[in-house]
Amino acid sequence: MLERLERMPDDPILGLMAAYRADPDSRRVDLGVGVYRNDKGETPILEAVRRAEAAVLSRQTSKTYVAPAGNAGFNQAMEKLVFGDGHPTLRAGRVRTIQAPGGCGALRVGAELIRRAYPEAIVHVSTPTWANHVPLLTGAGIRLESYPYYDAATGSVNFSVMMDSLEKLPKGAIVLLHASCHNPTGADLSESQWRDILALVQRRALTPYIDMAYQGLGTGIAEDAFGPRLFAAELPELLVAVSCSKNFGLYRERTGALHVISQTTAGADAILTQLVRIARTIYSMPPDHGAAIVHEILTNDDLRGSWTDEVGSMRARMAGLRKDAVAKLAKTSPGRDFSFIERQHGMFSFLGATKDQLSLV
Ligand SMILES: Cc1ncc(COP(=O)(O)O)c(C=O)c1O
Repeated sequence: MLERLERMPDDPILGLMAAYRADPDSRRVDLGVGVYRNDKGETPILEAVRRAEAAVLSRQTSKTYVAPAGNAGFNQAMEKLVFGDGHPTLRAGRVRTIQAPGGCGALRVGAELIRRAYPEAIVHVSTPTWANHVPLLTGAGIRLESYPYYDAATGSVNFSVMMDSLEKLPKGAIVLLHASCHNPTGADLSESQWRDILALVQRRALTPYIDMAYQGLGTGIAEDAFGPRLFAAELPELLVAVSCSKNFGLYRERTGALHVISQTTAGADAILTQLVRIARTIYSMPPDHGAAIVHEILTNDDLRGSWTDEVGSMRARMAGLRKDAVAKLAKTSPGRDFSFIERQHGMFSFLGATKDQLSLV
């Protein structure tokens, strides 16, 4: 039976990582994978994570199962982190959260929920979008289409073209948006653009699905959640898939959450039963360790303060690197304007390099 299976083509990003590791040149730089690196080129364990982890382990007396929805304390702490403590929609009891194996797991659970609710659903993703959105969403049987987003000429969002395209979507269409630090372009929506999209979504009765993988790494913890918070306050329905991989540096611990907002508390309760059933059919229960660490950090003032500072340092370093890159490129390529790199946020930028300018040695 298994001999029928053909070899899959290599994943280009993972292939680039392997080529980087094998390259003996000390000047090599890996520009492929989206992980934070310090000035030594390392992806460190955050101090707040080390301390929280020690506290969690010292108290832990069992490794028995937690639950398909994961750690309830983590889910609640994540709701407050994402939407802000005291958000009216949280107070109204319209948000339900399931812990998931990373942002990818959350995106997939959300896609499964959409397919259960609306089997003919089409999710519209930005051009370009994070490459993994495609297998994660289509793997759940969802059809994908795309809307224009990035303007390479200015290095920013081509907002009027994007809006024209969203305006034509049929009622009920689902629009996937990146909360901040757009992957792979680094071009984010401004607060007034989020407001314009909200008005369009309301007028056209669309459903947004927000992917938030970089809260705190763009302009600030609250600032990066502007879109999700605004939409949660104003819309009857919303999905937000969140990753703790980057902002908590917990990549391999597979920590994330899916928040779903429903029009009524009864509807929200029904959705939670669906989410739990979906988890049972895929992985049964999410891994606990990363969620226990995040819960510890977010509910302990001292650890939370330390984490907030560390997120601030990572954010400042990325902004500083963007500034340095623009200054260096201005010297080496005086004929071209790279200032857009500095205006963007997060880990990614499109440099506009052609295939011939890149070579794998
Ligand atoms: C846009 C976006 N969404 C979601 C994720 C999910 O990450 P993870 O599954 O590692 O938490 C990533 C990670 O690179 C991302 O860039």
